[in-house]
Amino acid sequence: MTENETQSSTELAGEMEKLNATDCTTSIEEDKDGDIVDPWKVESKSAKGVDYDKLIKRFGSSRIDQQILDKIEKVTGKPVHHLLKRGIFFSHRDLNIILDLYEKKKPFFLYTGRGPSSDAMHLGHLIPFIFTKWLQDTFDVPLIIQLTDDEKFLWKDLSLEECHRLAIENAKDIIACGFDKEKTFIFADTDYISQSRAFYTTMCRIQKCVTFNQARGIFGFQDTDCIGKISFPSIQATTSFSVAFPQIFNGRKDIPCLIPCAIDQDPYFRMTRDIAPRLGYHKPSLIHSTFIPSLQGAQTKMSGSDPNSSIYLTDTPKQIKTKINKYAFSGGGATVEEHREKGGDCDIDISYKYLTFFLEDDGKLEQIRKDYTSGELLTGYLKKDLIAMLQEIVAKHQEKRKQITEEEVLEYMRPRKLIYDY
Ligand code: TRP
Repeated sequence: MTENETQSSTELAGEMEKLNATDCTTSIEEDKDGDIVDPWKVESKSAKGVDYDKLIKRFGSSRIDQQILDKIEKVTGKPVHHLLKRGIFFSHRDLNIILDLYEKKKPFFLYTGRGPSSDAMHLGHLIPFIFTKWLQDTFDVPLIIQLTDDEKFLWKDLSLEECHRLAIENAKDIIACGFDKEKTFIFADTDYISQSRAFYTTMCRIQKCVTFNQARGIFGFQDTDCIGKISFPSIQATTSFSVAFPQIFNGRKDIPCLIPCAIDQDPYFRMTRDIAPRLGYHKPSLIHSTFIPSLQGAQTKMSGSDPNSSIYLTDTPKQIKTKINKYAFSGGGATVEEHREKGGDCDIDISYKYLTFFLEDDGKLEQIRKDYTSGELLTGYLKKDLIAMLQEIVAKHQEKRKQITEEEVLEYMRPRKLIYDY
């Protein structure tokens, strides 16, 4: 057995074991310490947030270590993105395969997505797209972005029409990240699936490979869940396969895919990787990110449904300032004297955490870490820096988004050939 095959059977065996052991009640992924990470919930009992090292072990993925970072730099000839270097994209599955292909000048494509459940995207939603843009620029490959309006219709109290509208609105925020129009196809599920025989037939093939028992084991479905939810994972899986996009890949079914996503999406792709060889397709490779914490602390992630936990892409400079000053959990001392004496704790300080996501300058970040830890730098100054930086990022995003016309969105969303040589 190759290393891959071993991994695949353990992926499935792990799920089956869990099914037998727990009969899959709600918290399908809760561990002994109370960390929950699944597509619907991310929660930790620790102020430091989810223990991502443990998660790697539990999910059976691989850590992004120095060796693979060196390899990325070697094959691309470019420095790695700060989100990689700082361990925000921290885990992967079979990234080596993609790097080897790239080194041999063989093609692959990128796939990522978003469930359009609200108009107001926040900073956390931007992270996978910022990173995907870097991947597209660095590897110069086609990108497919799936907007799962059907998923949000099935899971939330929203009409299909509303979910489709949100998909188009979110597409504007995504396009504002700067994706290359000639190499990027964005689609809403309810549009593309009804137009594409290739997508639908691939989906049917996947559906035939996964039993209800397996889906329940992986996702924790209950008897009372509607059957739309139970079949949805096959839709998210389909985009991993080049055969579903004949207009892009000239009908080739053997172009491998790399999926940048937050780690909560991994269950979908464990399922996808398990069935891929049976259908004669490549298993998708994955690169996983951690979550940006909520303003109140790392126990929960930034959430669109709690306005005080998030910085929205529509926030005004004043709103950003107020929210950070009022809510951003501080790892500093209770009084100035105590802070000067004991220093601040960067492991739990939310302003510092946000700087690691958005401040690109390594030297400056390290200086802030040192000065805050020693107590020299007060929380107020840290917040001041963060506020100025986020105000600028959000204002620039708003400016770019304003310039995107309806026609441009329709062009990104038109099934078409992309400029790439296969
Ligand atoms: N299910 C994801 C969400 O709710 C959307 C999604 C679909 C996705 N395909 C993806 C996310 C691939 C990351 C990668 O947001």
